[in-house]
Amino acid sequence: MASQSKASVNQGENIRIFQDSDFDTASDKELLERDADAFLHQALSTPVFKSVTKVEGAYLYDGEGNKLLDLHGNGVHTVGYNNPYVLKALEDQLASGLTFAPRRFTNRPAVELAEKLVEIAPNELSRVLLCPGGSEAIEMAIMLARQHTRRWKTLSFKGTFHGAGFQAVSVGADPHFTEGLGPLMPGALHLELPDYYRNPWGYTDQVKTDNAYIEQFEKVVEAHDDIAAFITEPIFYNSTVPTAYYWQSIKEICEDNGILLIFDEIYTAFGRTGKMFASEHFVSPDILVVGKGFGGGIVPFAGIIAREDLNTVAHKSIGHYTHEKSPLCSAVAKSVIDYVLDYNLVEDAGELGGLFRAGLLKLQKRFKLIGEVKGLGLNLAVDLVKDRKTKTRARKKAHKLMVFCLKRGVSFKLIQGNILNLKPALVITEKEINHILEVLEEGFEYLEQREN
Ligand SMILES: Cc1ncc(COP(=O)(O)O)c(C=O)c1O
Repeated sequence: MASQSKASVNQGENIRIFQDSDFDTASDKELLERDADAFLHQALSTPVFKSVTKVEGAYLYDGEGNKLLDLHGNGVHTVGYNNPYVLKALEDQLASGLTFAPRRFTNRPAVELAEKLVEIAPNELSRVLLCPGGSEAIEMAIMLARQHTRRWKTLSFKGTFHGAGFQAVSVGADPHFTEGLGPLMPGALHLELPDYYRNPWGYTDQVKTDNAYIEQFEKVVEAHDDIAAFITEPIFYNSTVPTAYYWQSIKEICEDNGILLIFDEIYTAFGRTGKMFASEHFVSPDILVVGKGFGGGIVPFAGIIAREDLNTVAHKSIGHYTHEKSPLCSAVAKSVIDYVLDYNLVEDAGELGGLFRAGLLKLQKRFKLIGEVKGLGLNLAVDLVKDRKTKTRARKKAHKLMVFCLKRGVSFKLIQGNILNLKPALVITEKEINHILEVLEEGFEYLEQREN
């Protein structure tokens, strides 16, 4: 199952490695037990192995009082946790007395946010719709595409994650969500996620690999003339960066066949990849979806930005969420964008990401456990392998390295069991990146010594 899923599970081998390690969770024990007693158990959220007591900047503090550099943050810590600029916007909005807008009333913070989104969005994207969470935003994008095109099928990549709602899991087809659920959304078609490192043909040449995946895409499009939209992240969850050639070809096929391109930028928007939106590295989508960091890690908020000519469903409802035009969430989201712009986080992410990546490539030269370093900006990943020729995933060692780093104050999650997912807050400093590299280096040395 793991190879089909983006998730790093909180059970099975993963949690056993935590339990077997000498990781001290004694003072967390009582809360962890109450958590396990109170919540419905499900993969990925309950039970867990740690509690958190405070979040701040690029860090979180766990129940043992450890300060951890958080390279995961669920993607919400773009401007850093509890960013004072964002907190001030929240406090000002609370103090203003305007904390909710019932349906049929608009409000200044929501309008200003929508205008700001349009101002910074890629060309032609000029219509906004807001909602509480990323999954809902993806579903609004799908419904807009279906209503606009009058088609009903969707195309997306197998094993990806676009949210936990029914339409979103149907599109993502991550087995943690879909297995055993019965029939999913009809018309959800799937393709294998492109991979330059491990692909079915064994290709290493980028153009050859691109062409093989583009051909697969074309074949599905040829077989179905009723696809409303293709939904994907422009840079995949495992930090695989498709080429501009790949995206240009896919966009062309979509345009030629009346298929709308929906980019899920819930993780990548607002500077993470060294551009305000990751799409700016490649092509503009017809609908762009934002979320996570949009709410500053403080409030849940998300939305879509669509092309002007998709403003065609005035007589229908595709969103209609209670907190759609929340003044509170809007004020927070607007302050996030202002902070990203005023404090040059986009440029910083590009520069710091370059340094981080260079450091990881240096480690790759030294440690044969590192099969591949990939990603753009502060959206990086390291693929650990048992053998560089076979590229077999080194899952046990990856877990050991994760625990080693966690004990030294660096927290990251694993993807597919063996890929280090390195996505810090964009407010991270060069010094902190160098520290992460040092901890990783010690971790690789430790693993090498244990091997010999
Ligand atoms: C790429 C991507 N899309 C959509 C979502 C869903 O967002 P939310 O959890 O806010 O519904 C996530 C969440 O992890 C995500 O990573």
